Amino acid sequence: MKVIRTIDELRSELADGRSSGRGPVGFIPTMGYLHEGHGSLMELARKQSGTVVVSIFVNPIQFGPGEDFETYPRDEQRDLSFAKSKGVDIVFLPSVNEMYPQPTKTKVSVSELTSLLCGASRPGHFDGVTTVVNKLFNIVKPDFAYFGMKDAQQVAVIEQMVRDLNLDVKIVPCPIVREADGLALSSRNVYLNDEERMQALVLSKSLQDAVDGMHKGILTTAGEVREQLTSAISKAPLADIDYTEILQFPDLVSIPDDAELETIENAIILALAVKFGETRLIDNILFQPK
Ligand code: PAJ
Repeated sequence: MKVIRTIDELRSELADGRSSGRGPVGFIPTMGYLHEGHGSLMELARKQSGTVVVSIFVNPIQFGPGEDFETYPRDEQRDLSFAKSKGVDIVFLPSVNEMYPQPTKTKVSVSELTSLLCGASRPGHFDGVTTVVNKLFNIVKPDFAYFGMKDAQQVAVIEQMVRDLNLDVKIVPCPIVREADGLALSSRNVYLNDEERMQALVLSKSLQDAVDGMHKGILTTAGEVREQLTSAISKAPLADIDYTEILQFPDLVSIPDDAELETIENAIILALAVKFGETRLIDNILFQPK
């Protein structure tokens, strides 16, 4: 496995691979502190691609003021052995200066899809994501790029960007990887103390209960689903709800409270963001009404 820190070196390594017919390039952009959620993306890329590239870059422009850019967990050595164990060929580890040698005056911004959910609570966040992912796509020129449904809105936004800008890459959405007790894996889970960690289980449980309720026909309208999610989560004393939403996916159109769910043709996503202490966790589940 090669560890590369500069754009020039990565470009020439990938050009060598292309000219010697190493097959498609599969790319997994990450911010590091790797776990099995990231690992599942790497494993799928390994199956589908000749060269697997992982980037590890804590991207300052997607963090707002007062967010955790400075304290975001980092462990380069552990990440490198993790990537190696997944059969990754190249880890790209640029510095902030390598990616942003001067403040960027160009940004890539997807409208509408970014004005709700995490976009509403984190203004500018998705512009930072689409700008860096665009830069990374231009540097790596991947055939396939792998993104986790843990960040379902991010998948919807990136797919929109790829279509709108005719980017020559296929986005591969990958299922959420969870702990045995249901908590979605996240680099930020290390921030949770024992009590917060225990109460955070309410997230996956309330989502699963809501989907069960819809399947059984107990919850029939969007309003009932919102109410049930909010009341289930509020039972955890440390939970501070940012949003609980029910929308169509991937267009992220909100479903009115009085809408009968069985009349909806598209996939439905239940999505939530909840703070436990200082830690903001997100989770979601997809549901096909018909
Ligand atoms: P990061 O949070 O490190 O996540 C990198 C990728 O791993 C994302 O596609 C994310 O959805 C996926 N992932 C994280 N936890 C997962 C889980 N439990 N199951 C499945 N996939 C999971 O997302 C980012 O970084 C950044 O915004 C980035 C795209 C790298 C741009 O800076």
